[in-house]
Amino acid sequence: MYIFVLSSFLHPAAIQVQITPTQGEISVGESKFFLCEVVGDAKDIDWYDPSGEKILPNRPDISVSRNDEATSTLTIYHANVDSAGIYKCVAKNGDKEAQATVQVKIFQKITFQNAPTPQEFNEGDDADIVCDVVSSPPATIIWKYKGATIQASKDVRFKILSNGHLQIRGIKKTDEGMYNCEARVTARGEIDFRMMKVIVNVLPTIRARQSEVNATADVGSSALLACDADGFPEPTVTWAQYVSHCCYWPVFNDRLRFTSDLIRHVKKVDEGDYTCIAKNKAGEKTEEVSLNVFVQPKITFLINQSASEFDEQVTLTCEASGDPTPAISWSFGNRVFTEGEQASWTRPDKYESLDRNVVVRSHARVSSLTLKNVQFTYAGQYLCTASNSIGQDNRHMYLEVRYAPKILGSVTVYTWEGNPANISCEVDAHPGAEVVWFRDGLQLPNANTTNMKVYNTPTISYLEITPDSQNDFGSYNCTATNVMGTESKEFILIQAEVPSSPEIQQVEPFSSTAVVEFEEPVSMGGVPIIKYRVQWRSLGQEWTGREYDAEDDMTRITIVDLKPETTYEVKMSAINGKGEGESSTASTFKTQPVREPSAPKLEAKAQGGNSLKVNWIKQDDGGSPIKHYLVRYKATHVSDWKPEIRLPHGSEYVLLSGLDWNTEYEVRVVAENQQGKSKPGTLSFRTAVEPTTIPDAVDGGSGLGTGAIVGILIVVFFLLLVGVDITCYFLNKCGLLMCIAVNFCGKAGPGAKSKDIEEGKAAFTKDESKEPIVEVRTEEENTLNQEGGGPTEPNETTPLTEPEFTHIQSKNKPSLPSTCEKYLNLLILKLLHSLCSLWLDCFSPPQMFCC
Ligand SMILES: *[C@@H]1O[C@H](CO)[C@@H](O)[C@H](O)[C@H]1NC(C)=O
Ligand SMILES: *[C@@H]1O[C@H](CO)[C@@H](O)[C@H](O)[C@H]1NC(C)=O
Ligand SMILES: *[C@@H]1O[C@H](CO)[C@@H](O)[C@H](O)[C@H]1NC(C)=O
Ligand SMILES: *[C@@H]1O[C@H](CO)[C@@H](O)[C@H](O)[C@H]1NC(C)=O
Ligand SMILES: *[C@@H]1O[C@H](CO)[C@@H](O)[C@H](O)[C@H]1NC(C)=O
Repeated sequence: MYIFVLSSFLHPAAIQVQITPTQGEISVGESKFFLCEVVGDAKDIDWYDPSGEKILPNRPDISVSRNDEATSTLTIYHANVDSAGIYKCVAKNGDKEAQATVQVKIFQKITFQNAPTPQEFNEGDDADIVCDVVSSPPATIIWKYKGATIQASKDVRFKILSNGHLQIRGIKKTDEGMYNCEARVTARGEIDFRMMKVIVNVLPTIRARQSEVNATADVGSSALLACDADGFPEPTVTWAQYVSHCCYWPVFNDRLRFTSDLIRHVKKVDEGDYTCIAKNKAGEKTEEVSLNVFVQPKITFLINQSASEFDEQVTLTCEASGDPTPAISWSFGNRVFTEGEQASWTRPDKYESLDRNVVVRSHARVSSLTLKNVQFTYAGQYLCTASNSIGQDNRHMYLEVRYAPKILGSVTVYTWEGNPANISCEVDAHPGAEVVWFRDGLQLPNANTTNMKVYNTPTISYLEITPDSQNDFGSYNCTATNVMGTESKEFILIQAEVPSSPEIQQVEPFSSTAVVEFEEPVSMGGVPIIKYRVQWRSLGQEWTGREYDAEDDMTRITIVDLKPETTYEVKMSAINGKGEGESSTASTFKTQPVREPSAPKLEAKAQGGNSLKVNWIKQDDGGSPIKHYLVRYKATHVSDWKPEIRLPHGSEYVLLSGLDWNTEYEVRVVAENQQGKSKPGTLSFRTAVEPTTIPDAVDGGSGLGTGAIVGILIVVFFLLLVGVDITCYFLNKCGLLMCIAVNFCGKAGPGAKSKDIEEGKAAFTKDESKEPIVEVRTEEENTLNQEGGGPTEPNETTPLTEPEFTHIQSKNKPSLPSTCEKYLNLLILKLLHSLCSLWLDCFSPPQMFCC
């Protein structure tokens, strides 16, 4: 700086004044002092400020102090712009005066008056980044971002304003960062800068995950209302709720149930619109979520009701709650009374059933079922069903219908003296009726009626009467009473009669039997027929007869033990509890001559699995005893019959086992008597389909299978056979052992009765000595042929039972040994015969050896 000092020399001995320093530049706020030196005697040294006023000692900003005779100091504290100017130092001594001046300049350093950091803006705003700098002379401002100087000419979004601020038009999130505001004063080479942080805030965005949320009330379920928000800084999300009639934006003061986004245990009152608010420095955004709360239907009112028969109508009412409003329907048993889906609030719909006795009306949450012209059949359980889109509720109610007693039961009852009979008075009533019996206006039973008893059940009253005399027959009055009324009915106890006579329509004679066809009696006498008595006689003989148990729709009775070719007359009568009725007129018929038997009647009884039991019912024997039955069977599709099975005359069935599965079979059974063979009785059947799994476990319970049983039987039979044979050999000198002994050893065997034995076995040894083992059939035929052939009596009808058979045999062979031996023979024969039957039952063809 240029310094200049003014000194004046008015006189040679004048006073001289000098100010040090001669330069006076002070930065604002700094302090500085100046020294005024006087040469020569000076009495006063004074300082004057730029406005020319003398500076007094006690000024705060500027102080003046006299150091000694020749110096004075001027101090400027904390200089400001006002302190600038020319200061003058004046020295006086009498009339001598000298002065010097110093020009003080005040300058401003670079000062950032307003350059805050951070500075925040909202995205999209025209941001004005403040950087206020003062200095004198004014400084030049340069903006730098990321180390580079911002050149407004290169990016139109940037502009350095005249006040030095940086403007960014439409500031973006990417413009965020540290900005450097640099100020320079070229005159002084002064430079200073400030780093400023620029923050760009972003307005929140918000989305509801679901704008509509459905929930069910009162079932403990939760509803999730969720909003997702973005923005900078991170927005906070809060919830608010409109409250109608109140506040536009009431703060949602959450109940405990509404924590975060979840409403727990949703209730109907929670339904409504919720607003989620996302808020940050840049602002706030809202989104709305509707919560629909549905309520399951619940029947709130339904009660039992009662009515009386013939009432004009009864109305059942069912009320239900729920949201959406439930539709209500009624049902009774299988009948459903419905109103249709659209329950109307304003205009109630009406449903009329076909019979126009049932009307359903619904209005909002209430439905009524009206039953007109109440009948007792309307009583019972009615079901009310309320349903809406989320569920349904059912409840029952009972309609009680009271009605007067109705008496049922048959009016006439038949019995006879001494036979107790019940008169049943069946009463239908609600509430239950009390039943009283009367006869001739007197209540029963009473002291005079010891032969009567009353049995009461809830629905039937029985009057049991045991008639002593004719007086007890007649009418009885059953009277039933309940609160609704009384009903009575006459019952009549009638003396039963014996049945009238049955009528013989026709008699179908056979040789030893006859079938009597008849018509039931015209009158049963009031009580059922128990038996029929049939009586017959050959002309001139006594009546013989038998009673046959009556069956339903019986029209035929077979009488037996008749003689062939004989004329008989037959009559019959019916018997009921009261007694026997009159006999029918007698019918005459003649039995047929001796001939072959009638064909047996067959019936099949499935045995399960692949076996079958064929039963037969013996028919007329043709006047001569049946000798045996011959059974043949085959599968229908093959031509060959299985070997014939012969069964003794008493047999009633044959068991066929080991058959092919699922195959059609044909069975023929022929009965044979002396005259010949009957026509075959035939039967067809199909065996079962083979089971895929053999039920072992089930079978195991019953023990051995059929095969095992057959095996055991064979072993037992064989042992018996051996036993018998040995017995025969030793006692009777016959049998297999004997044959072997005779044929191979030529031995007569043990014992002394060889002659008797030879005679006894004459037929055997003579006729069939070469074939010791024969079929039963052949053997029997031979025996019988020997028997029958001799006497030549075709009319012989004596039944051939085993003892008699043997008897005949022994009669024809008078040379047989002692009675003891005869007895043994008999025993063995009997045993063998049963063994043969057993054998025949099990096998075909039977192979057996007999002596
Ligand atoms: C809520 O229920 C209404 C009415 O039943 C239905 O239309 C809508 O689709 C449901 N909304 C949702 C999200 O399940
Ligand atoms: C309605 O009647 C039924 C059957 O008579 C009975 O079980 C039920 O307890 C009754 N209900 C009411 C509420 O009386
Ligand atoms: C009559 O009815 C009662 C009750 O069921 C019964 O005990 C009685 O044995 C009956 N009497 C006759 C004769 O059926
Ligand atoms: C019993 O019979 C006697 C004589 O017939 C009659 O006088 C009496 O009134 C009868 N008693 C009753 C209870 O019917
Ligand atoms: C049955 O007896 C009662 C009481 O004596 C009487 O009122 C009613 O008329 C009688 N009923 C008939 C059908 O006779």
